[in-house]
Amino acid sequence: MNTEEQKKAAAQAAVDLVRPGMKIGLGTGSTANYFIDLLGAKVREGFDVKAVPTSRASYDRAKNNGITLITLEEFPRLDLTVDGADEFDGNFNLIKGGGGALLMEKIVASSSRYMFVIADESKKVTRLGKFPLPIEVVPFGFKATAWKIENALKSCNLAAKLTVRVKDGKPFQTDAGNIIVDAAIGWIPDPVKLSNLLNILPGVVDHGLFIGICGRVLLGTKDGVKQLDKPPNTPPAKMRKQ
Ligand code: A5P
Repeated sequence: MNTEEQKKAAAQAAVDLVRPGMKIGLGTGSTANYFIDLLGAKVREGFDVKAVPTSRASYDRAKNNGITLITLEEFPRLDLTVDGADEFDGNFNLIKGGGGALLMEKIVASSSRYMFVIADESKKVTRLGKFPLPIEVVPFGFKATAWKIENALKSCNLAAKLTVRVKDGKPFQTDAGNIIVDAAIGWIPDPVKLSNLLNILPGVVDHGLFIGICGRVLLGTKDGVKQLDKPPNTPPAKMRKQ
């Protein structure tokens, strides 16, 4: 299977795991789009499911597919979120946000009992960080925030190149009206420590490290879809040595 076939096959495997009546989170990105379309096809055959989208793009796609949309305000707890990822490591920690939807993706995934990642095999890494880490910051004082990010990275002995994401010649704007700073780190030795450091910086809204949220990866490979489950003895992120 080529990359697109792997994404689609992983999405189909996730659709097959959705049970009638579930309330699910719909991710964002090219792999999540396959999931939305395949789920939509099932809904049009009468399958009962309700969903919270994680971006305007996924909202539009799900609506066009006839999927019943709900909000987290109406239903604060969801059964399952299915989303793509830019990278996942052996601890099932992720880098997300390549499409800029990380804030809502993290809110929705962390409000779900389970999060399944659907991915092609290029997303599996030994160590996170080759993909530049997206960091969402408020526009006010964003250069000062970038300076604080740089210092936080230095305190972890990381020298990263920070770039403000640009689209059509202007700073890219997230659905929440924020800016994305992409941090090209190369390798993140301690994702838990970095996540905690970034979380406390004024001006940082959120970042693309998803720690301890994903429990299963449905991985499209050349030979078919593999289901990878997080080992039950993996301690929750907050219990791991920082
Ligand atoms: C969107 O902001 C991202 O988190 C995506 O889930 C991630 O970039 C994966 O996208 P693809 O499925 O398009 O690779």
